[in-house]
Amino acid sequence: MKKHLVAPSVLAADFTRLREEFAMVNESEADWFHLDVMDGRFVPNITFGMFIIEFMKTLAQRPFDVHLMMVEPEKYIEEFRKAGADHITVHYEACPHLHRTIQQIKETGAKAGVALNPHTPIELLEDIIEDVDIILLMSVNPGFGGQKFIYRTLNKIQRLKEMITIRNAHALIEIDGGVGLQNAEKILQAGADVLVAGNSVFRAENPKDVIAKLKAFESNPLKFV
Ligand code: DX5
Ligand code: ZN
Repeated sequence: MKKHLVAPSVLAADFTRLREEFAMVNESEADWFHLDVMDGRFVPNITFGMFIIEFMKTLAQRPFDVHLMMVEPEKYIEEFRKAGADHITVHYEACPHLHRTIQQIKETGAKAGVALNPHTPIELLEDIIEDVDIILLMSVNPGFGGQKFIYRTLNKIQRLKEMITIRNAHALIEIDGGVGLQNAEKILQAGADVLVAGNSVFRAENPKDVIAKLKAFESNPLKFV
């Protein structure tokens, strides 16, 4: 049976020790690096862009899952791909021409994802769900790491899982924000395929051990049979 995936969110890493932090993830059971790009417009925070991602790529031995929290992401898709993005996820709320943007991502050879803010209903994905590889549900309001998981997300995961199953779509459900050992099991039972974890991993005494524990929870059997 296929296991769920774990994607440590680099935003919570100690940037003065980036080399060691990346080495820790490389040696762990983690599946992807999750990279949060924030533009100070779509969200009230600014992080890093393709220049830093290109540098990070030289340290990484796992795919780069790039989460673009920015307006007009279509302007920079090719550049993020060149910098090393393996998956590019854009926000539904930031893309008036989402179908076109998804095609644009796929044309670069990257996997294409769409992210929803906590207030955005999954039903809005009805006419795009079959075209995307990843659906990222924000379980906090985007902009900062270390926030509290919004429990209503569990219901959203279940409904999204149902929608994907009925359509026989292939999209993975990725949960981002406030995920840790205290709630991972519930999130997986609801139907999640990918757990993003920032503070719960990087601020732990033993990050590798937390990653191993996140991997060890049981996945939802329905999806992978
Ligand atoms: C929030 C980011 C998340 C964040 C998760 O806007 O999209 O990826 O880094 O961090 P934690 O797991 O600490 O909530
Ligand atoms: Zn993120």
